[in-house]
Amino acid sequence: MKSIKIEKFGGPEVLTLKDAEIGKPGPKEVLIKNLSIGLNYIDVYHRTGLYPIPLPSGIGLESCGIIEEVGSDIKFFKIGDRVTHASMPIGAYSEKQIMPEEKLVIVPDGVSDEVASCITLKGITAEYLIHRAYPLKKGDIVLYHAAAGGLGQILCQWANSLGAEVIGTVGSKSKEEIAKKNGCHHVINYSEKDFVAEVEKIVGKNRIDVVYDGVGIKTFKGSIETLKIRGMMVAFGNASGYVDTIDVKKDINTKGLFFTRPSIAHYTVKREELVESAKKVFDALLTNKFKVKVSKKYSLKDVTQAHKDLEARLLTGPAVIIP
Ligand SMILES: NC(=O)c1ccc[n+]([C@@H]2O[C@H](COP(=O)([O-])OP(=O)(O)OC[C@H]3O[C@@H](n4cnc5c(N)ncnc54)[C@H](OP(=O)(O)O)[C@@H]3O)[C@@H](O)[C@H]2O)c1
Repeated sequence: MKSIKIEKFGGPEVLTLKDAEIGKPGPKEVLIKNLSIGLNYIDVYHRTGLYPIPLPSGIGLESCGIIEEVGSDIKFFKIGDRVTHASMPIGAYSEKQIMPEEKLVIVPDGVSDEVASCITLKGITAEYLIHRAYPLKKGDIVLYHAAAGGLGQILCQWANSLGAEVIGTVGSKSKEEIAKKNGCHHVINYSEKDFVAEVEKIVGKNRIDVVYDGVGIKTFKGSIETLKIRGMMVAFGNASGYVDTIDVKKDINTKGLFFTRPSIAHYTVKREELVESAKKVFDALLTNKFKVKVSKKYSLKDVTQAHKDLEARLLTGPAVIIP
């Protein structure tokens, strides 16, 4: 079977399409034929080594596929089940993969393969960010950076449906309309304007209840500036670079802020958490709390281009790889 491998950390060119042996699933594992694979910014961190992984390695954490073989001690699934996942072991950029059954959930009818492969990692992340990292309430004012991105479109629509007032930032003119159509009440082009000043014009100084910041180093300080006293800073990504130190006195103490740097792994520790979170995501999709439009499809042989596009900020929403 064909699979993308990396042998060293680096640019998109280190992604190599190889013939690989798939092997047999262990007792608590299943073999999945992937139908659609999610493209995520975390794949870039794995490829560059920002999040180090043992090499050589596969890449990719999200896919939807059909179970073709099951191990001898499988509890939850059978051959033919359509499943999705959003976690290690890494290697979703493959025609087939072997996964522990505890990491999988069934995809309900009414959710296409492509959509399932966009809303497991991104959807569960949106779920834990708005329901558990900082449980959004009606009337909360939210700032989300990169609102026209894959996760941004899902989170902003869902936050809007909960009654929050959503301010989204975007990096280009063409993304402004996309963010507006995907849940943002207000959109700021932070490539052209100082987003802190713009936020103040919209809602006033120190008014933001929660910032969900996946952009990182370029937005961190400004995000802190917009927060209200006792506001919540959720730093969950590093598209522009990793924030590895904070100044507690200046950044946190000045306004008595709350700060968290979560990962999806912290919110899907137990299988029950994964299953419950995925159920909330599918329910929200099927009751129109958010809609998903796949923005672009790549083949496995085009993943180098997919990573170039992602890093060049050219994608406008969730994208998939069709094996
Ligand atoms: N902690 C977690 O559990 C978790 C889980 C999933 C995702 N994430 C994080 O969530 C964020 C969004 O993920 P995603 O997969 O949906 O990606 P995405 O938002 O579709 O793509 C990243 C976006 O970041 C913005 N950006 C700003 N500065 C950038 C720069 N210097 N280089 C590249 N992009 C830049 C771009 O939007 P503009 O052009 O509009 O600025 C770009 O489109 C990522 O940081 C990801 O790591 C975290």
